[in-house]
Amino acid sequence: MSTQDTIDSVRKEFRADSKILIKDPDQHETLKIKFLGRKGLISNLFSQLGNIKPIDRPKYGNDLNNLKNEILSFFNENKKISKTSSSKSLDYSLPGRKFRIGLQHPLQKTLNEIKDIFKNLGFSIAYGPEIDDDFHNFSALNFPPEHPARDMQDTFFIEDDIVLRTHTSNVQVHLMEDKEPPLRYIVPGRVYRNESISFKSYCLFHQIEGLYVDKNVSFSDHKAILEFFVKQMFGPKTKMRFRPSYFPFTEPSAEVDIWSDKSSQWLEILGSGMVDPEVFKSVDIDENIWSGFAFGLGVERICMLKYDIDDIRLLYQGDIRFLEQFK
Ligand code: DAH
Repeated sequence: MSTQDTIDSVRKEFRADSKILIKDPDQHETLKIKFLGRKGLISNLFSQLGNIKPIDRPKYGNDLNNLKNEILSFFNENKKISKTSSSKSLDYSLPGRKFRIGLQHPLQKTLNEIKDIFKNLGFSIAYGPEIDDDFHNFSALNFPPEHPARDMQDTFFIEDDIVLRTHTSNVQVHLMEDKEPPLRYIVPGRVYRNESISFKSYCLFHQIEGLYVDKNVSFSDHKAILEFFVKQMFGPKTKMRFRPSYFPFTEPSAEVDIWSDKSSQWLEILGSGMVDPEVFKSVDIDENIWSGFAFGLGVERICMLKYDIDDIRLLYQGDIRFLEQFK
């Protein structure tokens, strides 16, 4: 092989390798040593200068210098690229990447808090169907057919006789059908109402139903349990009141309000009352032996009061900017 051929073959090799370097900047050092290192290909070519015939030496030297400069300037140019790219993956001064960990939705948090309070009072948790018949959602709860009380709740019908439950009170009926008293249950779940959607109402929401049936249960038991719940949930200094109300399935009925300093008004948080004897009759429980109370609270409502949320739709939009505030 002539001396010129040797220079050309190193040039060829360099041009092939330089393509690798552009794709993979991490090869920068290895290739630089291969060509420009102390025992690299270029220095090897220089060391042969002595073997070249004196007449050919200037041309050989000149060609070799040209090649060396080509390679040098390539590596200099490429150093910038490889620096910037490696600084991207290995900048030790950058703060570590945070793992985003999931967090509980405010509704779930509220639900868990409520559940814990009642579990500590000896209540068990029960669930029931979201699609139910008219009997369990209405008739057994003393909403007679055509009775205006049905207008209290805008219902989604699936068939004439089948509805998306409008409240968790349907599970009171299932529990009393399926089990013998005494009963002490809370029933969390979704309920559905055909209402127009706004800042304060949504087509679905969550309720927790409570049912307590035993011998000699009195209105003061009912009051004490709900008072305990309110103080646990909103703090021991919370002002509350029982306000007479009406539900077809309780007699007497009461709604519980808490005082809001912020808006200077009473805000309703739940409905309740003593189980109406008519309800016991429809599930074959002897109303002369057993008595009880029931209550139903809106989880969204309590969540909004507790966390000062002013639009129920926020709870359903999955907007991370909203949700991240509940860490
Ligand atoms: N079911 C009622 C509603 O949806 C809430 C309610 C009121 C439940 C009184 C009860 C109760 O168990 O006793 O508005």
